[in-house]
Amino acid sequence: MAQARRSAGSDLTGAPHDMTDLDTLKSSTLAAIAQAGDEAALEAVRVGALGKKGTISALLATLGKMSPDERKSAGAAINALKDEVGEALAGRRAVLKEAALNERLKAETVDVTLPLREAPAEAGRIHPISQVMDELTAIFADMGFSIAEGPDVETDDYNFTRLNFPLGHPAREMHDTFFFHPDENGERKLLRTHTSPVQVRTMLAKQPPIRVICPGRTYRNDSDQTHTPMFHQVEGLVIDKGATLGNLKWILEEFCKAFFEVKHVKMRFRPSFFPFTEPSAEVDIQCRRSGGEIRFGEGEDWLEILGCGMVHPNVLRLCGVDPDVYQGFAWGMGIDRIAMLKYGMPDLRPFFEADVRWLSHYGFRPLDLPTLAGGLSA
Ligand code: DAH
Repeated sequence: MAQARRSAGSDLTGAPHDMTDLDTLKSSTLAAIAQAGDEAALEAVRVGALGKKGTISALLATLGKMSPDERKSAGAAINALKDEVGEALAGRRAVLKEAALNERLKAETVDVTLPLREAPAEAGRIHPISQVMDELTAIFADMGFSIAEGPDVETDDYNFTRLNFPLGHPAREMHDTFFFHPDENGERKLLRTHTSPVQVRTMLAKQPPIRVICPGRTYRNDSDQTHTPMFHQVEGLVIDKGATLGNLKWILEEFCKAFFEVKHVKMRFRPSFFPFTEPSAEVDIQCRRSGGEIRFGEGEDWLEILGCGMVHPNVLRLCGVDPDVYQGFAWGMGIDRIAMLKYGMPDLRPFFEADVRWLSHYGFRPLDLPTLAGGLSA
């Protein structure tokens, strides 16, 4: 560069160019081109030689002042120099471009053997309880049920009285209820001990026929391997003129087959007692327990999964339904229980410990929504 400038300087004096001058300029310019380490440096050489104020451009500008003879020989020589420098620039530019590209390729290599980082929607997991709620919603929605919900903080009236637990009835004591302090009117609210008060709310709000399920949180003062103070139930309620125990049996059997994803289930209805149903039953399903594993649709063991019965006429009356016109059936099932059974989880307590390692092991992929057509847990 510096050399090229200097020789340009001598030419700008207007002195006639001899071949030595041109040769010097040529060799210094070509040397500068060869030494240009990157495209920016090469561009500076180009501007210094061929730019508006460049050395070669300055030489070309002197042609006008020459005699025709001089111009003829000097013009050819200068233009040849210009062409040669142009070619050298193009050649060097190609080399530098390729070198720069190779440099980038080397710096930006991607190790295709590295594991992909999961997108957030892929990395998250659906809790087994949410999964099971989605599954049973899909099953009962397919049978024409809608979803009803109620608050976790309930009145004693809805949780007990209207469900035919008279005041002072011993069944109230069996529920290990969490009570709140009485309010200014002396009313003592509680954390609902079952999802059955949603039956009351539904009957008070809607005219029969009624066909609802009510999944939700429930609370009892109880804690061990299979009990936590907060747990989940799903209630079912059907009120119609001709609703029978036979309908109830069919619904529960269809539910169990769909939910446990088996072709056959054997179920056993054991007589039982609940204040809000008459007759009442507890339902067991047949299973085989072997080596810590449970299989349904085979085996000689029985496992209790729900309580059910025909809705007691007192309950219908207390909820504004005429028991001489309508009858119905209801059931209540522990969601945590059936989740543990279906997905082989031995302890209930980790469900509520929010341990990400447990969740990533037992959780479900967020975009795999359970449907009857596409498979519930596939
Ligand atoms: N509420 C009962 C419980 O938590 C379960 C239950 C039994 C619900 C029978 C019902 C029913 O609707 O008919 O133990």
